[in-house]
Amino acid sequence: MMRRVISGAACLATVALLLVQPLRLAASFPLYGKQTALPPGTELNEDALDVPREVFHSESIGGRKSYLVNLGDLAFSSPAILGRVARQAGISCNTCHVNGASNPKLYIPRLSTHPGTFDTTSAMFNPKSDNGVLDAVRIPSLRGVRYLAPYGNDGRTASLRDFVHNVIVDEFGGPEPSPTILDAMVAYINDIDFLRNWSLGPGGRLTERSSDAERRGELIFAKPFPHNPNMSCATCHVPSAAFVDHLQHDVGSGGLFKTPTLLNADFNAPYFHDGRYNSYDQVVAHFDRVFDLGLSTQDRHDLVAYLVAVGDGERPYERDGVGAQLKEINDFASVMDNAIPAHDADIIALAVDTVDLELRELIEQFPDYKDPSVSGGQGERRRARAALKDLVLRLRRVDLAAAAGHFNVAADEYRDYRNLSVAAVPNLLLAAQPWSLFDPATHDAHYRALQQTLAAASN
Ligand code: HEC
Ligand code: HEC
Repeated sequence: MMRRVISGAACLATVALLLVQPLRLAASFPLYGKQTALPPGTELNEDALDVPREVFHSESIGGRKSYLVNLGDLAFSSPAILGRVARQAGISCNTCHVNGASNPKLYIPRLSTHPGTFDTTSAMFNPKSDNGVLDAVRIPSLRGVRYLAPYGNDGRTASLRDFVHNVIVDEFGGPEPSPTILDAMVAYINDIDFLRNWSLGPGGRLTERSSDAERRGELIFAKPFPHNPNMSCATCHVPSAAFVDHLQHDVGSGGLFKTPTLLNADFNAPYFHDGRYNSYDQVVAHFDRVFDLGLSTQDRHDLVAYLVAVGDGERPYERDGVGAQLKEINDFASVMDNAIPAHDADIIALAVDTVDLELRELIEQFPDYKDPSVSGGQGERRRARAALKDLVLRLRRVDLAAAAGHFNVAADEYRDYRNLSVAAVPNLLLAAQPWSLFDPATHDAHYRALQQTLAAASN
């Protein structure tokens, strides 16, 4: 996963240097030349210590992710496939759909109305798709999305493949993706599962571990509305069908929108297509008002208790760290196991480019000796950075060989890269982790100092 603070680049020493010599450094570090691509005040939430946990269907049934799923995951994390502006801004699909979930804190001035929303029809990425109004919509989670067609908050697109194509080419003005890349992204997205929820059993019914309030809520959920007896919460949010009906409805929120799933929805706020509500209380009050349900205070509490139970998920977040980062980077690099023997220079280039960015971001997690906010572990940090820089260089050699058509050389270089990345590197990084930005105390001290530097610089 990419991580940056847009308002201030990655590491304190870099910021301090950038302030002194903006042009030279920006040119030699293209990664940090992008602050101009997004407005000041942008929050991408990439320094979060806890990240959404991702569960893959292929792994949860005891198998392994396929080549296609790993390739799709790689493309999903690649700013390159979204075109020039996204590349400059370092934005990939994964920036918004973090590990396939949502990103409730993402806020881009002029493109977001609330945190967690984004205007997909603005001029910033593709002037041709600009509709001239700020109509930001909530960034949805993609967990279980294979059960959630049609796509888009208004359900305008029946096919996931068409939707993804539209995101890349129309919304972001990216280059036409190859059929393989599109297939791979669809395979990856279709492999993202809901988190398990022990409160629900067969048919989406509560299990016996539920509380009395949750059970009362379940009854209210299925009870016909007093003025619309053919309708209940459950006729649209069908418990046995991932709590959706695949239809669009007008529920008094300003138009026709598709019924969103309620599974894992505890982590999907803000709610409704435009992210207008922050809590289930507000959502329930909305339905009570619009459909004149006459719910008592107790009914509302019970319904919320039920929604919380339905929307839960097992271990929704996990701590980011060396282990998680290396696993992801290795999964990405693993597409070269197939792409090199297949002499597929395009995919090798995409893999090298994306892994390269990830490795550079990882380097910045280990502050260098110039960073005054971190003390201790200097030798460990230096060795971790050096090991990662070495990986970056070896990876480049894979790409150079492949681009020149020397696939045997590329295979040798890749084997060296691979050996290093599984043997020496993990230990060196783990040794430095206590003084890295994965460590909460170091993380907080670093970002506090960064904020002070930026505040001082803007005065
Ligand atoms: C800047 C944030 C952002 C980026 C980057 C982004 N998305 Fe989205 N995504 C959104 C928003 C906002 C929506 C809701 C749009 C709508 O409903 O029309 C959405 C909707 C979706 C949906 C529909 C989900 C559903 O349940 O209907 C899919 C699938 C999706 N995005 C996949 C992708 C893929 C694949 C990429 C990269 C090629 C991507 N997104 C990049 C913000 C983003
Ligand atoms: C007629 C179909 C329909 C009925 C009946 C209905 N909903 Fe919904 N529900 C929707 C639609 C459509 C949305 C999305 C509205 C929007 O995006 O503006 C929604 C949104 C929600 C959300 C927000 C989910 C999210 O991720 O944004 C919750 C929670 C919810 N409904 C719960 C309920 C409850 C509880 C009831 C019964 C009191 C209910 N719904 C009745 C169709 C329905």
